[in-house]
Amino acid sequence: MSRLIVVSNRVSLPSPDGAQGGLAVALQAALREAGGLWFGWSGREIDTFTGSVRFEEIDGVRSAVVDLEPQDVEEYYNGFANRTLWPLFHYRIDLAQYNRSFGSGYERVNKRFAEPLHVMIEPDDTVWINDYHLIPIASQLREHGVKNRIGFFLHTPWPPTRLLVSLPYHERLVRTMFAYDVLGFQTGEWLESFLHYCQNELGGTVDGEYVTVDGKRLRAVVCPIGIDFKNFLAASNTKASVDLAERMRISLRQLSMIVGVDRLDYSKGLEERLNSFETYLKRHEEAHRAVVLIQVAPQSRGQVEQYRNVRDKLNEMAGRINGAFAEVDWTPIRYVNRGYSRDELTALYRAARVGLVTPLRDGMNLVAKEYIAAQDPDDPGVLVLSRFAGAAAQMQDALLVNPYAPEEVADALHRALTMPLGERKQRHRALLEGVEREDVHWWRERFVTMIEEADRG
Ligand code: ADP
Ligand code: F6P
Repeated sequence: MSRLIVVSNRVSLPSPDGAQGGLAVALQAALREAGGLWFGWSGREIDTFTGSVRFEEIDGVRSAVVDLEPQDVEEYYNGFANRTLWPLFHYRIDLAQYNRSFGSGYERVNKRFAEPLHVMIEPDDTVWINDYHLIPIASQLREHGVKNRIGFFLHTPWPPTRLLVSLPYHERLVRTMFAYDVLGFQTGEWLESFLHYCQNELGGTVDGEYVTVDGKRLRAVVCPIGIDFKNFLAASNTKASVDLAERMRISLRQLSMIVGVDRLDYSKGLEERLNSFETYLKRHEEAHRAVVLIQVAPQSRGQVEQYRNVRDKLNEMAGRINGAFAEVDWTPIRYVNRGYSRDELTALYRAARVGLVTPLRDGMNLVAKEYIAAQDPDDPGVLVLSRFAGAAAQMQDALLVNPYAPEEVADALHRALTMPLGERKQRHRALLEGVEREDVHWWRERFVTMIEEADRG
């Protein structure tokens, strides 16, 4: 059996604020079962890049990490990845910054990663690159003579062509993708946009799952990521989970709880969510002193000003809404800026009558799947899910909403909180079946097999 080498911007390191993000959580689970090696940035900075690799065992996964220079981190990670590609890929060209130093830092760091990586790759290895930070790395590896099969999985959306062309040198970036054997997308919508770009901007042709541009052919597929279902269920039996469940029971008393769990990111639609909750409170007097929204959102990417702006805006909104609606014995929003362990998360999800997951755009959104996995099948809560999350393609039995429309979200909250047990169970059963079947191991096996079986033409 060939060895699996997984590459992502960072490997899964314990995060001080607790918000790891879906990629880290999923790859950790996938590699713990499959074995292999995980290569990426250590998260640390060093004065001068050396390319020397440290091997570490993190939570049962063998990892190889390198340190980057402060300029690398600024231009590649805070710059091109998080100020240029992230907003663009989430349809926010109004927030995207195009700065040449970001682009050159991005290419430099991809080359820097490729240096030590190509030395580690053995002839039979399968190489799997993850996410928008590392799009051009396969072309760098090919320059080093790497002949192995290489797959790339994009965890974010792929934007429509009309938005993507606003990126300077967009053609150059997309052409580097033809160094891969397989490209994986979370949904058919993102795949369609990619194919549209190849056909309309690069003069490519599409034949079934294969795309050809300038004589180079690759396989482009949909392969939605899932959660580590069994492990997640097991987490709900731990002491940390049981303890938090008890604390929640005491603190909630008769309140019906709505929960949101997100990295503090503008793509998650948090401002719009609070706005919708305010609309709900205005329209439903009976919810006062009866309903509480717990929003957990630890700081993410705090070096980027737009992320600090979201934090400031949410502080202001939560304070204002609480000030306007709270009573001496009731606060409508509990806004928490720290992360919780996976064990604790299961308790939080299970205690919530509604899981409110309303990103403005999201590659997948694993929180939606975790919420369903954590419910008591005999008395489940209801998932209110943005139709613009990749997860909506698989989770049609959720209450699907337009997160930009506060009245629509408010109506869905009311419907969820008053839904009869029979309908709740029926919806939950249908959702649970998909979450359990298409879990993270299904995703990993399927994608790795697609890389191994891709016809190289
Ligand atoms: P993204 O990858 O954009 O962060 P996802 O919803 O796909 O979004 O994945 C987020 C992952 O990070 C989930 O596994 C979730 O449990 C975890 N996570 C998000 N917010 C928190 C938090 N506040 N505390 C602990 N874990 C979190
Ligand atoms: O899941 C999407 C993603 O961008 C991952 O690539 C990333 O690891 C995660 O969110 C968290 O972001 P960051 O690594 O920038 O903290």
